[in-house]
Amino acid sequence: HHLINQYINLVLIGMPLSGKTTYGQLIAKALNKKWIDTDIKIEEYSQLKIPQIFKLSGEEKFREIESQVIDLIHQNQGIIISTGGGVILNHTNIEKLKENGLIIYINNQTTNLNNIDFSHRPLINNLDDIKKMKEKRDPIYKEVADIEMIIDESNPFSVERFRDSVY
Ligand code: S3P
Repeated sequence: HHLINQYINLVLIGMPLSGKTTYGQLIAKALNKKWIDTDIKIEEYSQLKIPQIFKLSGEEKFREIESQVIDLIHQNQGIIISTGGGVILNHTNIEKLKENGLIIYINNQTTNLNNIDFSHRPLINNLDDIKKMKEKRDPIYKEVADIEMIIDESNPFSVERFRDSVY
């Protein structure tokens, strides 16, 4: 296992709708750490909502801003970072996040994805898109992660279990 100390960031990666934001907040609260969400930072930094960035400037520009934001965020120490699902598409992002961070793949296999609002998700319009995206990205998430947290109905997320697997 990695040497975990108070300066190490915990970085949550995984698919959209896997719970990175929710779990990031929970973990930060439980460990009394600061929490940062890269998508929120991107919106603050660009003064635009994510769908607007995609619409006005395209995905490539979004990825550029995302990388700039990672460049700033990864310099923090001892915080919890929830990332956007596509952060793994740029290897430099991962290298930076790994410098002082433990990368945790939130692999959420629960299937109760009902009533999803896709309007603010520029890359996915339906459940089939999510399925295809997961098939493509799952190997990448697995490859870059230090720890994979599998969550399903029989194995729900708990901060205690999370703690055990990290420390
Ligand atoms: C993206 C996921 C989104 C957001 C953007 C692109 C992706 O974040 O960064 O729409 O490529 O998977 P969430 O994973 O928080 O939905």
